[in-house]
Amino acid sequence: MTTKTEQLKQQLGIDVPVICGPMYPGSNPELVAAVSDAGGMGVVQPISLTHIYQHDFREGLRLIKSLTDKPFGVNFTLMDGVKVYEERNRQWMNIAIEEGVKFFLTSLGNPGPVVKAAREHGIVVYHDVTTPAFARKAVDAGVDGLNCVNNRAGGQTGQLSPEQMLDELASFDVPLVCAGGVGDENDFRRMLDAGYAGAQLGTRFLATQECQVPDDYKQAIVDHGEDDIVWTNKLAGTFSSVIRTPDIEKLGLRAGPITSRLLKNRKTKKLTRMLLLLRSTQRYKKVALNPGYAQFWQAGKGIGNIDAVESAGDVVRRFAGAL
Ligand SMILES: Cc1cc2nc3c(=O)[nH]c(=O)nc-3n(C[C@H](O)[C@H](O)[C@H](O)COP(=O)(O)O)c2cc1C
Repeated sequence: MTTKTEQLKQQLGIDVPVICGPMYPGSNPELVAAVSDAGGMGVVQPISLTHIYQHDFREGLRLIKSLTDKPFGVNFTLMDGVKVYEERNRQWMNIAIEEGVKFFLTSLGNPGPVVKAAREHGIVVYHDVTTPAFARKAVDAGVDGLNCVNNRAGGQTGQLSPEQMLDELASFDVPLVCAGGVGDENDFRRMLDAGYAGAQLGTRFLATQECQVPDDYKQAIVDHGEDDIVWTNKLAGTFSSVIRTPDIEKLGLRAGPITSRLLKNRKTKKLTRMLLLLRSTQRYKKVALNPGYAQFWQAGKGIGNIDAVESAGDVVRRFAGAL
């Protein structure tokens, strides 16, 4: 095992360098707890926790603590400059600190202020990055590790392959986590051998008994292969990686000319994205809670190596066997 893997395990207080990435939908507290309990790192997606699974934020964290005494993390999607989101993140962060959470995973935005607050409480911060430029900013802001979101990831994708990301980020002296395309323990081993300190998985953990997405979504992950994965920017404004289903075919893969223009224009870009994001938030909630609503199923290219719905603990333990 590399020293960077050891560093990651020490920083996060875990035995298996596997992170269950935040998912909207998918990160119900039972899944987060199961991954942590088996020795990995479960991460809470606060909007999933409160909006889809209807837990009060603090009570949701306490539910996880009642299911495991192992560490788990909280994700913060940073919407710099959008006051209402900034305030809500601040409240969630204070509660997470009070509840003793020791791992924050930030996405988008500038992680600097989170790092500052985290330092005062001995909390480790990793940041999602998709390019070397974002990685530079995050490292300069003081993050402890980088989640390298690649072009094989489920949900919002990166543009670079796992290998390109590693080449371009290897000079940063922090643990690098491969986020995207890891479906089984062989993929995991390959990414560790390539130089990653660990892996963040989303799709693999959707197809588990503890995850509360509908059964037909889980079965679709088992039944489909890598070639069935497509990107669409019609759901959230940015590109999401999804299974090509009849509903996705009907929706289409590319935004129409008006939306595209609004998304490109400097003045309208932010608001258009926000509106699309709000609409996708509602849609994904319906996908999560109403089986049969629509097959808008986010998943990554590791899907080809996922052959069964299993318990999250079994997945983590099998990955541990590949160390
Ligand atoms: C259904 C789904 C929802 C996701 N939602 C989020 C999210 O809300 N925030 C986030 O930072 N990442 C999100 N992700 C990305 C995951 O945290 C993780 O980085 C990614 O799934 C790793 O790629 P993989 O699916 O190929 O394993 C999501 C992924 C999936 C599959």
